[in-house]
Amino acid sequence: MPEERLVLSERAGHVATLTLNRPQVLNALSPALIDELIAALAACDADDEVRAIVLTGGPRVFAAGADIKAMAEASPVEMLTRRNIERWSRIAATRKPIVAAVCGYALGGGCELAMMCDVIVAAETAQFGQPEINIGIIPGAGGTQRLTRALGPYRAMELILTGAMLSAPEAHQHGLVNRLTPPEACIPEAQRLASLIAERPPLAVQLAKEAVRAAAETTLREGMAIELRNFYLLFDTADQKEGMRAFIEKRKAEFRGR
Ligand code: HXC
Repeated sequence: MPEERLVLSERAGHVATLTLNRPQVLNALSPALIDELIAALAACDADDEVRAIVLTGGPRVFAAGADIKAMAEASPVEMLTRRNIERWSRIAATRKPIVAAVCGYALGGGCELAMMCDVIVAAETAQFGQPEINIGIIPGAGGTQRLTRALGPYRAMELILTGAMLSAPEAHQHGLVNRLTPPEACIPEAQRLASLIAERPPLAVQLAKEAVRAAAETTLREGMAIELRNFYLLFDTADQKEGMRAFIEKRKAEFRGR
């Protein structure tokens, strides 16, 4: 029997949908799954036909965290030398925009993975949280940093210290979730948003993503410099000429990603 893929990949138009595929353990993020995800995202970045990505865990769960069974007995030196968590940074470094479709639990590493995406669509029944404290650790793939930036220090502190879950409606109210949907509409809505992004000029989309990310990751001065460099750079693209000429000629622009 062929080995089951841990990340399924399909493409419709210019949108790739990647689905985490370990439903029997609520998509626990094993090192092998993370490796497949990194490879799938790199393939999307390399494929000119892909302009936006949807990342989902399927209709019931996003991911219930890093695989506890794969790390329960590990020593610090084993954790350090495996370099598993460092590899996660390659997910956040994806150049193309990622829309997360969170249809159920996004906990621990699952919440951190959702927060590495650029837009989050969630089912009303989804739950977010960093419950690591309950098993004697703390978040390790950005949870203390990204959740704090998304929710503010007081809400993030309470969630991380208590391990409590945040419902999707609360997450939406506090700005962690872009859109709330009925459960069955979550993945289609994420795909609809991704195709809207995919209609835009791809290089402008990627450079806009880089500049917005810089707002959270650098100082204002550095972020402004990245924004300005990307702004000027886009005047060297065929899509900028096409976009502005189409506006002046009152016709729809045809973007080619060049
Ligand atoms: C390994 C997991 C898992 C996980 C669930 N499972 N979460 N296996 N790692 N993170 C497995 C269970 O062992 C079980 O397998 C099956 O999935 C179904 O889970 P249940 O617990 O039976 O389901 P339910 O009662 O519905 O409870 C759902 C749940 C609970 C509330 C989400 O599973 C849960 O609390 N999971 C752990 C959440 C967590 O602590 N996440 C943080 C992990 S640490 P069997 O074989 O028994 O049927 C982390 C650190 C990140 O993420 C650091 C950076 C990388």
